[in-house]
Amino acid sequence: MTMAGDGYFLYHSIGQYPGKATDMAAAMADFSVAWGSANDAQWGYALGKRQEFIAQWSALIGAANGTLTTTENVTASLYSLMGSLPRNTLTGKKVLVAGDCFPSVHFLLAGLAPRLGFELVTVPLRQGATWAEDEDIIGHWGPDVGVALLTWVSSTSSHRSDIAALVAHGHAQGSVIGVDITQAAGLLPFDVAKPEVDFAISTSLKWMCGAPGAGILYVKPDLIGICAPEFRGWFSQPDPFSWDFDAFAYAPDIRRFDNGTPGVVAALASLPAMHWLMAQDRAALLAHNRRLGAQVLAGVDALGLALASPRKESERGGSIMVRLPDTVAAADVLGAFRAADIFADARGQVLRLSPGVMTTDAGVSRMLKALGEALAQ
Ligand SMILES: Cc1ncc(COP(=O)(O)O)c(C=O)c1O
Repeated sequence: MTMAGDGYFLYHSIGQYPGKATDMAAAMADFSVAWGSANDAQWGYALGKRQEFIAQWSALIGAANGTLTTTENVTASLYSLMGSLPRNTLTGKKVLVAGDCFPSVHFLLAGLAPRLGFELVTVPLRQGATWAEDEDIIGHWGPDVGVALLTWVSSTSSHRSDIAALVAHGHAQGSVIGVDITQAAGLLPFDVAKPEVDFAISTSLKWMCGAPGAGILYVKPDLIGICAPEFRGWFSQPDPFSWDFDAFAYAPDIRRFDNGTPGVVAALASLPAMHWLMAQDRAALLAHNRRLGAQVLAGVDALGLALASPRKESERGGSIMVRLPDTVAAADVLGAFRAADIFADARGQVLRLSPGVMTTDAGVSRMLKALGEALAQ
C-alpha cells in the first residue's frame, strides 16, 4: 500500500504539497472568472495577485518593499540585471561564475561577454569533483571582478556554498555579487541582508512548489538607483501611462526592471503554494528533509554507490545525489522506479534524490529496495 507522493523525490525540480492540485485549480478558476467577465475589473484583480506574489516572496527572503519583481525565469532575471549595470562594472572587467553553476546562466553570460566587454571566468572543478570549492572561487576572485554570480546550492551535487564567506571576500574586492537561490529557496532560510547581497535570482519551482514562468529578481536598494535596464518598457516607469516618447523615466524602485505588460498568470498560479509554504513550520519541513536525507545517505552507502553530494549536512542543500556505475543505465533505474511509483531523475549518471514534505520513511525504503534491485540486474 503506497500513499500519494510518498515515493516522490523530485523536489529539486518540481515541489509538491498535499492539496496542490486542488488549490491551483481553484486559483486558476478564480482567475478565469475574473478575466472572462465583461467588465473592467480584470487588471485590478490580476495586478493585485501579482503584488501578493511579490509580497510573499519578499517576506520569504527579507526583501524590502520595492526591491523584488517578477520575471519569466532565472535566466531572464540575470539578463535584465546584466543589461542594467553601469558599464564600468563590466567593460574591461571579469565576471566570475563557478563550473557548477546552472548551465543556462553560463550560456547567457558567455553570449553577453563580447557585447558588454567583460571576460567570463569560470572557476573549474577539481579532478573528479562534482562541485566547485569555495576556496577555489575565492582564489579566482580579485579586484578585477566586476560581477560575481554565486550558486547557493548546485543542481547537480546539491553542494551548498558558504555564501557568508564568499560575500565577505567579494565585497572586499568591490564586486557586485548576485546569488542564484533556486535550488534551496523555500527549504533553507535565506535573507538578502544576511549577508547583504547585491542581487538574487530564483524561480518558484522546486522546493517553492510553484508554477513555471514565475521567476523573481531582487536588487539591493542602492544598486537599483544606479541601474538602467536596457530591457525596459512602459511598466519600467513610475506611471506606465506616461506615453510621451521623449519623456521616458525609470521608476525609482525595482519597477524599473519591469518592461511590457507583466505576465501575471504564473505568479497567480504559484500563489497557493506560496501561501501554503508561508503558513508551514519551515524548520519542521527542513527537519523532515534532513531525516529522510540521512536515511537515503545510509541506504546508498550500503549499496556502495559513490556520493556526488557533500557528506556533511551543513554543506548540502536538500538533495542526495549519487553516481550510478557506468554499467547501469540511468534510464533503466528511473524506469524501475516509475514502475514502483517512485519518481526521481538523473543528469548523466548522477541520480538526483530529493525527499520533500510528501515523501515518507516507507517511500525511502521502497526507493532503496528498487534501487538495489536495479543495480543487481
Ligand atoms: C541553480 C539553478 N538555477 C536556475 C535554474 C533554472 O533556470 P531557468 O529558470 O532560467 O530555467 C535551475 C533549474 O534547475 C537551477 O537548479
